[in-house]
Amino acid sequence: MYLGLDFGTSSVKGVLIDDRQKIIATASSPLKVSRPHPGWSEQNPEDWWKAAGKVVAMLRKAKPKAVAAVEGIGLSGQQHGATLVDKDGKVLRPCILWNDARAFVECKDIMEREPRAVAFSGNIPLAGYTAPKLVWVKKHEPRIFEKVGKALLPKDYIRFRMTGTYGSDMSDASGTYWLDIVNRQWSDMLLAASGMRRDQMPDLFEGTDDTGRLTASVAKAWGMPKRPVVAGGGGDNAASACGIGAVNDGDGFVSIGTSGVIFVSNDRFSPNAERMVHAFCHATPKTWHQMSVILSATASLEWLAGVLKEPAPQLTRALGPKLKGPAPALFLPYLSGERSPVGDAQIRGAMLRLGHETDRKVLTHAVLDAVAFAFRDNLEALRAGGTRISRLMAVGGGTRSELWLRIMATVLGVPIDLPAAGDVGGAFGAARMGLVAATKADYRSVFTKPKIAKTIQPEKAAQAAYEDHFQRYTQVYPAIKEIKFS
Ligand code: XUL
Repeated sequence: MYLGLDFGTSSVKGVLIDDRQKIIATASSPLKVSRPHPGWSEQNPEDWWKAAGKVVAMLRKAKPKAVAAVEGIGLSGQQHGATLVDKDGKVLRPCILWNDARAFVECKDIMEREPRAVAFSGNIPLAGYTAPKLVWVKKHEPRIFEKVGKALLPKDYIRFRMTGTYGSDMSDASGTYWLDIVNRQWSDMLLAASGMRRDQMPDLFEGTDDTGRLTASVAKAWGMPKRPVVAGGGGDNAASACGIGAVNDGDGFVSIGTSGVIFVSNDRFSPNAERMVHAFCHATPKTWHQMSVILSATASLEWLAGVLKEPAPQLTRALGPKLKGPAPALFLPYLSGERSPVGDAQIRGAMLRLGHETDRKVLTHAVLDAVAFAFRDNLEALRAGGTRISRLMAVGGGTRSELWLRIMATVLGVPIDLPAAGDVGGAFGAARMGLVAATKADYRSVFTKPKIAKTIQPEKAAQAAYEDHFQRYTQVYPAIKEIKFS
């Protein structure tokens, strides 16, 4: 038996699989984000640990024998978060998450301090990455900065709690802005650019490597007497890629989660920094990937659901299954600023063309359209850099709305495949990595492609109207970005 644990932003998910990769049980436990100031986004690492314990307890209740037989565990997690611990591993402050926008000035500081950084790393430092967050902590919370023993990514903090060892994998480490992504090792040049040292970094592993065993006390508490090995795992997007077998050159998928990601696997490092495409290591050895990231995908719909005090699934259901055309209103989903393709942490969302007739259905429809437009913007950015994409597999919570998928296929102009069991992406990929680390199987024989449950085709009748609306959408950001609010 093998367990995958995915530390997402809205929940911790667990997936238990057997030797033949059959899903035996799944469980999840919700998480909250705290936003103490506009643009900030934080979580308490202790909440992840407690949620992990709850997930394991739920799995154990459902399948006690299967949990007792676990031999390998893989970890997947939200990327970039700065989880700071002191020399004894004690957490120093809440984790600053991937969608926290505070460290925008610090990105410029890094580029000024090290003019070679962008060319060397193939990526422009963005507020979401880990390095600018540390520069921010150094500037605003110097007493905490002085005590930093290790700067860990969210899933790697959990690894420390599980095994007592400090480790990270190449895919997640790529999102720190401290990694030499070509050579898969820490870069002293990039570390120095943000005032950090190599001894503050965890050891590096490939996603399928064994990074240590569960400690005896955690093994006892979780009911896993075999003291399973813990695989390197991956950032949630790379882990999802392992879950759907997107590990060969050109394999791509779209993830509609809290964030939205178009991910393409590459057999070489393929930077396209000007359009804020992320060029990172994959979680499998000697592979890389490109990724364009929108910060608020289902997060946009969740925001609207919060404002309207109606659950998101109810809001989308009210629109019915048929796609008639775009909403009359136009939304810009930049609630946390935006990464790809604009790289602007200070911009915020906008809703245009409101009228007395605008109701919750129009607002919901406009949000669904806008997220699809943001994805389209990113598809264009990837294509402009030479990446070829002619169909996409979709994963993540947003795939539960068939209407949203129809809008996406129509706006992107490509068929969208839905894998069977699409909602367990990162956790399933992590479980697969746990299997490889425990059995030393060839990952290529494990990270196979899933069965396609359904394909959503672009809807021709709505395409022209959506194209017009997309052209309007592309005018919104340039039109509003010069308006200064502070
Ligand atoms: C990727 C990113 C997000 C988080 C979401 O760069 O920041 O996709 O990983 O969990």
